[in-house]
Amino acid sequence: MTELGESTLAQAYAIGGGDWPVGYDAWEAAAREKLEKPAYDYVAGGAGTEATMRANLEAFYRRRLRPKMLRGTQTRDLATTVLGTASSAPIMLAPVGVQSIVHPEGELPVARAAAATGIPMTVSTAASTSMEDIAAAMGDSPRWYQLYWVNDREVVESLVRRAEGSGYSAIVLTLDTLHIGWRDRDLRNSAFLPFLAGKGIAQFTSDPVFRSRLDETPQDNLLAAGAKWVSMFPNLGLTWADCAWLRQLTSLPIVAKGVLGAEDARLAIEAGFDGVIVSNHGGRQVDGAIAALDALPDVRAAAGPGFPVLMDSGIRRGADVVKAIALGADAVFIGRPYIWGLAVGGQAGVEDVIKALVAELDLTLALVGARRPGDLDGTFLAPLP
Ligand code: FNR
Repeated sequence: MTELGESTLAQAYAIGGGDWPVGYDAWEAAAREKLEKPAYDYVAGGAGTEATMRANLEAFYRRRLRPKMLRGTQTRDLATTVLGTASSAPIMLAPVGVQSIVHPEGELPVARAAAATGIPMTVSTAASTSMEDIAAAMGDSPRWYQLYWVNDREVVESLVRRAEGSGYSAIVLTLDTLHIGWRDRDLRNSAFLPFLAGKGIAQFTSDPVFRSRLDETPQDNLLAAGAKWVSMFPNLGLTWADCAWLRQLTSLPIVAKGVLGAEDARLAIEAGFDGVIVSNHGGRQVDGAIAALDALPDVRAAAGPGFPVLMDSGIRRGADVVKAIALGADAVFIGRPYIWGLAVGGQAGVEDVIKALVAELDLTLALVGARRPGDLDGTFLAPLP
């Protein structure tokens, strides 16, 4: 429970008024100064003309809130539980691979920041640090594991078993990246693909089944391990029918990431998924795809009122979180925002990004007339112009 007295407002201003950048654009600009161009472009970029990346942001600009007055919002409670996982706010960290290209310690500062703020972290299959090492950095703090279903089922099974064994409380299957999208910026940077250089493959080099597929150990030949990973990654033959195998493999909740319409929402539910994430991968996969926020109402309608519906792609501000929840999301994920925090300030940078977003969300909630995320619904939004 937070109380918007002098102290919390002062705290919010202290977050903004410190040495850190204020606002998403300032964080991105500071990160751009710091990073090598290929690394910056890899994070910042999207598919093709980047029309979908822009559409994700425009969808938030287009929606307008309709604040309600005099609702007694002196105290508020942002705490949210999704599929049994508790979070201090309706915000989670999206899986972002290969964080070693923006920080020498890779995912570890993010793991510590997530633990310090009580915000769940989703650990990527393309991480630069093994899921066990990330788990060790987090202690008992909540974490989910994001699965890329590579084209070797024994490796997939091994990854899921390790996630179960190291305290991850849900498996997020990413549906939209059975093949990496067409990304102009990376192609211009001499076809920048960190995995080929052996970066972002730590879940695999630490995996006994993957290692059994190699002729030499990753220590002896990291590039060969990278090449093996790249050949194992594409899996465009995967279908909804295959998901029955994952469903029976684990008793953890499974969440389908990359749902953009009612039809796929229904198929995900039929396939036994416990939740869906409305996402277009931050505009990195299909150029011209619908903005995630625009897809959210259809997915919520198809899923029905009680089914966990999450969203990401374009969340930048506290008001964006309010809009997404008002349109039917139970919680949202952020991707690039915390990566810029990592690039600029390591753990402290990620913490500041999270705290500022939560403080802005808290204040926005108070000012629109809601005491908790669950109070929000479509009546807090103006009709689209
Ligand atoms: C991603 N994303 C992603 N998703 C996933 O399921 N597994 C992954 O390994 C990655 N890797 C990744 C790397 C980078 C550099 C970015 C920017 C994104 C997608 C991510 O989870 C999320 O869907 C988007 O980042 C959300 O959009 P915003 O918040 O970045 O606009």
